Amino acid sequence: MIITFANNKGGVGKTSILAMTAAAMFYLQNRKVAILDTDPQQSISVLSKFSSRKHPEVFTINRKTSNDELIDLILDLKSRFDDVLVDTSGYAESEVNRIVLSLTDITIVPTICTTLDFAATADFIQSLNYVHNLRKQYGETPMQIFVLANKVRGRVKHEALVKNFDAQFLGEGIKQHVKFEEVSLDRIAIDMIKSGFQSYIEDLNQVIEPKAVAL
Ligand SMILES: Nc1ncnc2c1ncn2[C@@H]1O[C@H](COP(=O)(O)OP(=O)(O)O)[C@@H](O)[C@H]1O
Ligand SMILES: [Mg+2]
Repeated sequence: MIITFANNKGGVGKTSILAMTAAAMFYLQNRKVAILDTDPQQSISVLSKFSSRKHPEVFTINRKTSNDELIDLILDLKSRFDDVLVDTSGYAESEVNRIVLSLTDITIVPTICTTLDFAATADFIQSLNYVHNLRKQYGETPMQIFVLANKVRGRVKHEALVKNFDAQFLGEGIKQHVKFEEVSLDRIAIDMIKSGFQSYIEDLNQVIEPKAVAL
């Protein structure tokens, strides 16, 4: 399963939530997880350098990686791992993102809960229509898109949100959490799981594999 974290907005939690998701799948659910870092800022690759014990394997691309090499890499990872979590840059319209998204099964779109961020996120989701068309051309099943509310303070009014997005929400949203700065690939912080992460991962499990064990 290719699971891509994307949004054209930066700072919404793509990289941090991907790292926590990978750690939860790897350490708590014993899934074979690979991370593919396609962001030129290489945040995930940097995180992995600070990780000491065995952690989900990280693959990177660079400016010299050709489109064909990228496609081959994604298909190879898909065949060798249970889940491939792909981190993306904020350049939603870039060629790399177009290739990644056209091969993606599930896209998770983290968003901050402000009016401006919601508007940008709704626009981004709308812009993904081209992916559906591309996949149709290749006879692939449609990509599933989910919104993930992040840095939530208080309760998120889901009904109001759902009206804004033509996509489903995963969990109740992840709370604003001071320890987020300490996200890493080689541990899973239980106190963070408590902050709404659990409801997200439970919903994600339902989508990936209905019978997956809960945390
Ligand atoms: N739920 C949260 N609570 C507190 N800080 C968060 C939360 N989610 C993300 N952050 C912080 O926000 C910043 C941007 O997150 P990051 O994952 O790098 O976003 P992106 O990859 O979308 O640019 C980081 O400093 C991160 O630690
Ligand atoms: Mg990032």
